[in-house]
Order: sequence, then C-alpha cells, then structure tokens
Amino acid sequence: MPDICYLNGEFLPIEDAYVHIEDRGFQFGDSLYEVVRMYDGVPFRASQHLDRLFRGLEFIQLEIPYQKEDLLEIFDEAAKRSGHSTAFIYLQVTRGSAGPRSHVFVPGYKPTVVITVRPVEPIPEPVREAGLKAITHPDWRWANNHVKATTLLPNILIRTKVSRLGCYDAVLYREDGYITEGTVSNFFAILNGVLRTHPLTGRILAGITRMSVLEIAKAQGIPFEERAIQTDEVYHASEAFFADTYGEVIPIVDIDGHAIGTGKAGPLAMQIWRAFREMVKKETAR
Ligand code: PDD
Repeated sequence: MPDICYLNGEFLPIEDAYVHIEDRGFQFGDSLYEVVRMYDGVPFRASQHLDRLFRGLEFIQLEIPYQKEDLLEIFDEAAKRSGHSTAFIYLQVTRGSAGPRSHVFVPGYKPTVVITVRPVEPIPEPVREAGLKAITHPDWRWANNHVKATTLLPNILIRTKVSRLGCYDAVLYREDGYITEGTVSNFFAILNGVLRTHPLTGRILAGITRMSVLEIAKAQGIPFEERAIQTDEVYHASEAFFADTYGEVIPIVDIDGHAIGTGKAGPLAMQIWRAFREMVKKETAR
C-alpha cells in the first residue's frame, strides 16, 4: 500500500504531493505542525493536539478554512486510507504563498495544509527498562516555544549532537540556569520525592504527554509541582524522564555521565509509563 498524503483538500500518493517554492513554509518556516500518535489505527488525544494547533495559529495570526472537527475527520480518513496501525499523523500548516518573498505578511493568503501518516517503531521494552541517557545543553531557541513552529534549526543541531552521543535527548537550560525541556520532549525529575516539571510558559511546549503525566500523578496521589528545575539540582534527582508523543515516558538514567538514582529506570517513571499505556488503551478502544 503506498503512503498517502492529504494536501489542500485531496488525498494523493506521497510521491505526487508537491508544495510551491514560493510557499512561506519553505521560504521562512512560516508554519506550524503537530505530531499525533496512532495506536491500533486510532489517534490518541488528537483533539488536544488540535486545540494546541489552533492556539498557535491564533498566536501567528493565521486563519485556516478548517474547524477542529474537519481536521479530526481528515485524520480518521487518513488513518483508514493509510492502513497503518502504529503510526504518526503529521500535520503541517503554512501561510501559503502570495508571490515574491516578503517578511511582512498581509491578510488573504491561502494556507497550505499537509497531513501524512507514517508507521513508527516504538521504543523496545528492554531499552525503556534499561533507561536512556541525556546531556545538558544550552537552550538555543526563541522565546515562544509554546508555539509548535517548524523553525527547528536549534532542535535539529542539538538533537543530532545528542544522537551522535547515543543519548535520547538533551536537557535544555536557559542563561539563568533553569531547565526548560528537551528538543523533542518535556522534561520531568523527581527531587526530594516531588515530581517536578517546568510550568507552562513561552519557554516550553505544552506537551500532550506532559498533560497526561500530570493527570496520572494527580490520580495516583504522586506529589508534583510545576516549578522550573535548576541545572545544579538535576544531578541529585532520584529519577528523571522525558515525555513526548513518540517515546511516551522515557526514563533517564544518566545525565552528562552522572548516574541518576540507581542508574536503572526509576520505579515511579515506570509506574507512570504503565499508567500512561492504560490510559491509551482505554481512550483508543473501539
Ligand atoms: N515533539 N517539547 C518539544 C520541544 C517537542 O517538540 C515535543 C513534541 C514535546 C512533547 O509534546 P507532545 O507530548 O505533545 O508530543 C515537548 C514532537 C513529537 C516532534 O517534534 O516530533
């Protein structure tokens, strides 16, 4: 079965899907995206992903001729047509093009809307159970990371470095020493028995997985606090993990060569991950 793509109103094979070189997504990265995970052919929390997209579109002053319900229907149709079961839905919306390159945008663009469905290999269980490594790294990004923009050069450069070092992601920190998140994930640590993560500000993305983790913590009575962590605190964490749509809950056992906790996936991280899988099972049941 060929991989399919939805482009501005029609489904077509990916090989036949083209966007014009004048498109502002290509020229400027004037564009937002979402990544939704499909479990057994059913998108998980797609509605929340789209709420985040629409908040971002409002921030960048881009109107699209779709309501959330329209996009949810297209997701379902794309999922069905793809035939994939465990997959990512990738959605990108650009401001389209209006002739020659100009930084200034004016109303009246015809946005470009692209949706693809691609299979994904989940993290193997033994890898998750062994835990993954991370490094700390300066956060090179801009001030509006709550917007899921496709301008990802800082993330790309840092994640490539991280991947060459055999790590899952970087623990990013700002000039004032506060840890923000990863390049593709939110960051959590357990300090003095409290689960901590950065509060929702422009420094981080309001991750859908982050929200799920906090729901689980609340339901299970795990004490948590949305308060930024200092870099000099992090090596003393008893556990740490990343959270994102791809990896779900990813225990971290080593940061910059310092063992975190016992150097094995932390019990609380694994407990939260199992609860997350239960949540997925319940919400994606047909
Ligand atoms: N990344 N922070 C950043 C910078 C991210 O790029 C992501 C997601 C997250 C986690 O958000 P969520 O739980 O909604 O996936 C946090 C996606 C997977 C990506 O860029 O491919």
